[in-house]
Amino acid sequence: MKIFEEIESEVQSYARSFPRVFNRAQGEFLYDEEGQEYLDFLAGAGTLNYGHNNPVFKKILLDYIENDGITHGLDMHTKAKGEFLEALNKKILEPRGLEYTVQFTGPTGTNAVEAAMKLARNLTQRETIVSFTNGFHGVTLGALSATGNSHHRGAAGVSLAGTVRMPFDGYMGDEFDTTAYLDKMLSDSSSGIDKPAAVLVETVQGEGGINVASFEWLRNLEAVCRKHDVLMIIDDIQAGCGRTGSFFSFEDAGIKPDIVTLSKSLSGYGLPFAVVLFKPELDMWKPGEHNGTFRGNNLAFVTAKAAIDHFWSDDAFAKSVQKKGQYIADRLDAIAAQYGTGNFTALGRGMMRGISCVNGDLASKITRKAFKQNMLIETSGADDQVVKFLCPLTISEENLKKGLDIVEQAIKEVCAAESSIPEEHDYFAEESLAS
Ligand SMILES: Cc1ncc(COP(=O)(O)O)c(C=O)c1O
Repeated sequence: MKIFEEIESEVQSYARSFPRVFNRAQGEFLYDEEGQEYLDFLAGAGTLNYGHNNPVFKKILLDYIENDGITHGLDMHTKAKGEFLEALNKKILEPRGLEYTVQFTGPTGTNAVEAAMKLARNLTQRETIVSFTNGFHGVTLGALSATGNSHHRGAAGVSLAGTVRMPFDGYMGDEFDTTAYLDKMLSDSSSGIDKPAAVLVETVQGEGGINVASFEWLRNLEAVCRKHDVLMIIDDIQAGCGRTGSFFSFEDAGIKPDIVTLSKSLSGYGLPFAVVLFKPELDMWKPGEHNGTFRGNNLAFVTAKAAIDHFWSDDAFAKSVQKKGQYIADRLDAIAAQYGTGNFTALGRGMMRGISCVNGDLASKITRKAFKQNMLIETSGADDQVVKFLCPLTISEENLKKGLDIVEQAIKEVCAAESSIPEEHDYFAEESLAS
């Protein structure tokens, strides 16, 4: 551990929650240097929807490397890229009635978001992007300007321009339709909001605390976009690639976004890989206008194609995600009911779930207790108040149950410890009695 303290930057974050040196991983398990096994409910922050080192993909990747397949990342045509595009088009886009052009960006999510925002701005010749409270889109300047979290925004060092914030679904309470508010603001030439290029939105906010937009809200948002001639960008970096029970998280809402960003689990193997998908008529890029050295991770193409072939050739996988998602939801509802509705709230869709714990202190006590039981699980939300369940979608039912048992036990112990702390002495009451 010494070397990490000696020369790795203080910016490390996940390493602080899980101070071990990890060495090996398989399926839903990680192993540290001492050979200790950890149940992984973090899954590389959503990059490992298909688990660690899926043996099918591993074989295909090893064969590719063995045969001296191309590994550089320039945007040249390669066989691996062609085969990925074929698989994406035939097995993902066409069956869903989606016609999208694919842009390869730099390899991380924020690179895809930057490209999407730039494309929308160039196309419309408008600057403003509407993003939403608690949205998280990455930490490079453009994406950061659309991100809500003050901890991340505070590190920018420059003003974050070009975006306006609107309330996400449910932000103003259940009765308030925030898309009607957006519509009103866009309809009023004196609202103070310049006509935007696009709205940028997650269907389920991951880092923002597992806030789920209802399908109705998404449909209304799409209608507002159409009415005002504004592009709709769905950031599906965390909620996509099967996490919510369908390949794209917006499918069941019946909307057709103009632009979609994908990354995280797209490679299927934890390899860095991001794309922007957009309606073909929006492809106004000039050659190399938005470029970068690493815009074609061929190793990721190989595993991404394998993931599509293996998991998305029929609907069996999606159904299994839906079933496991329902199991998680039932367990979290039961926990919330047992430990006081209002104190704990079950959140989420598919296998993108969370339990809100009132405050970050309580949530982190729970995740720390889980770690003592050799389970990796993180928090999210403005105050890190949500314990976030992001296990591989391929987890066995047995290990899924085990993970929920560990968290339930941790909640039970934390609640017991909290209630045994004597209530703070009420000095004011005493004072007023004396006077
Ligand atoms: C919805 C969403 N968009 C964008 C990003 C940024 O991705 P990256 O961290 O790979 O830059 C994230 C990362 O968590 C995300 O959840």
